[in-house]
Amino acid sequence: MDALVLKRVLLWVIMAPADRITKGIILAAGAGTRLSPATLPISKILLPVYDRPMVYYPLSTLIMAGIRDILVITNESDRENFERTLRDGSQFGVRITYEVQYVQRGISDAFIVGERFIDGDPCVLVLGDNIFCGDDMEGIMSEAAKDVSNATVFARWVPDPDRFGVAEFDSEGKVISLEEKPKDPKSNYAVVGLYFYPGDATAKAKTLKLSSRGELEITDLNRLYLDEGSLRVKTMGNLTMWIDAGTFGSLLESAEFVRSTEKRFGIKVLCPEIEALKKGFVSKEEMEAWVASFKENDYYDAITKFMERM
Ligand code: DAU
Repeated sequence: MDALVLKRVLLWVIMAPADRITKGIILAAGAGTRLSPATLPISKILLPVYDRPMVYYPLSTLIMAGIRDILVITNESDRENFERTLRDGSQFGVRITYEVQYVQRGISDAFIVGERFIDGDPCVLVLGDNIFCGDDMEGIMSEAAKDVSNATVFARWVPDPDRFGVAEFDSEGKVISLEEKPKDPKSNYAVVGLYFYPGDATAKAKTLKLSSRGELEITDLNRLYLDEGSLRVKTMGNLTMWIDAGTFGSLLESAEFVRSTEKRFGIKVLCPEIEALKKGFVSKEEMEAWVASFKENDYYDAITKFMERM
């Protein structure tokens, strides 16, 4: 680690406020069988979505949430690919470390694989194939990150709830049940792949039993918080774009969304370099040096243009 990076990490450790979530996990270990043969050579989470690897999107989400200490959980065979892609995170002003999930035991297993990293602290989990975009994202995440004693999850109206974890609300908007991929969904509200938890997520995940499909279900973990009255379920507005890019169709849809949004607004969305600049995680000079290490292309030109406007 060079001296500048060490200085930044030390500064951040000292300055990190204890009253908000500062740790985040990107879960990127899936087998990706639903996207075979596209995923035969590489993890789904490293496939390109328009002009960048898919993992740049959940990474941008975490940066937007103000998270600087990030664990990426990969499968065994792709660990090196992830490390080559994201390195130690200093180019984005964050610290990235890696763990391997050797057996695909479900999403809640992230808190067991990530136990050393979490170390009893509150943390946020984002699924590697979930892409979020919207003006209100930063605000709703920042609010969730400040609540370190409750779990916060987000529900979003979808036409096909049976593909997801589903939340049922009572007439006052309180969640009364959560079900994973129900045949008969009790509502059209899917629980999206972005979860904020207090410091006991690992302890709770360890009490879960494998489901009939052999997984430690995230919905079962959320149900534990629901049962003890410490689950907050916030609905995401229709202006917030959420795509689970785990199917051929949604993968293409994500790329089309990013391309058309960027074209229309003339600015890159969910670009970790730009999110890091906006947050002040990296200085303009540092980012200029990072961008200069690549050949010019539309992606890096857009970052340079963004810096010119800063
Ligand atoms: O996208 C939101 C949905 O994600 C939620 O509504 C569901 O409650 C939740 O179970 C999950 O459903 P999916 O069927 O989309 O999960 P999938 O198996 O595709 O896994 C999501 C990501 O997590 C994917 O990128 C791979 C990664 N993963 C998954 C499992 C089960 C792992 O890294 N390890 C695992 O063991």
